[in-house]
Amino acid sequence: MLKNTLLQAIEAGAAAIRRYTGETFTISNKEGINNLVTEVDHASEEAIMAVIRAAHPDHAILSEESGANDQTSPYRWIIDPIDGTVNFAHHIPICAISIGLEHEGKMILGAVYNPFMNELYVAERGQGATLNGEPIHVSKKEKVANACLVTGFPYTYLDEPNGPLQVFERFIRRGIPVRRLGSAAIDLCWVAAGRFDGFYEHKLQAWDSAAGYLIVEEAGGKVTNLHGAPYDPHQPGLIASNGILHDELLQWIKGEQ
Ligand code: IPD
Ligand code: CA
Ligand code: CA
Ligand code: CA
Repeated sequence: MLKNTLLQAIEAGAAAIRRYTGETFTISNKEGINNLVTEVDHASEEAIMAVIRAAHPDHAILSEESGANDQTSPYRWIIDPIDGTVNFAHHIPICAISIGLEHEGKMILGAVYNPFMNELYVAERGQGATLNGEPIHVSKKEKVANACLVTGFPYTYLDEPNGPLQVFERFIRRGIPVRRLGSAAIDLCWVAAGRFDGFYEHKLQAWDSAAGYLIVEEAGGKVTNLHGAPYDPHQPGLIASNGILHDELLQWIKGEQ
């Protein structure tokens, strides 16, 4: 039942996004330069929330563009109607709908769908993770020296000691490839699928990672905060990896390598 709602909500958001493919759409700025939102973000969000509201009117919702609804419930849907809005606004097909479902504060279900690549990632706690219905697993890479990593950058807070630029420079100066796709939800799913060996980012919101971190864990990976403590998507920083090289990656990020 909950999984059906999740998949219907993903499909409703994807249909809203497809309606605009090849069309023009309005783009606005939120606070800060290039912090964009398009009318498609709002259309996708509205379509997703309509499905959830119809199926579970008493459930709580937290969604990027419209915030929290006023329901108090053990269930809370955490929605990013388009993760990778800057890519979307530039017609770069690396963006996704991300929906996670918490029960009593614990993530129990998550799905991330990139409608341009037709890749649907789904995870249910304790049941593994799939890509288009096929089980997926994290990579087996053992050393950061041989890893392919991915990261993202916030709009502010770049220059702190051990902040995003310093950590990025540390890897790049030592020849470790670090990609930047522009969608944290996809970054996480690509760790889950074994394409990347690790992902870190200093400042994320719950809707960026809610579904993706469960997908990584269910694909056999590990997710912690930037200090190695258990991950809480309502706190800012994250390291996700195949688990094998997690401790070493953590040391690199802390500047202990
Ligand atoms: C952004 C993406 C990006 C990350 C930013 C997020 P949005 O989400 O996930 O990869 O680096 O921090 O804000 O705004 O495109 O939904
Ligand atoms: Ca996002
Ligand atoms: Ca978004
Ligand atoms: Ca945004």
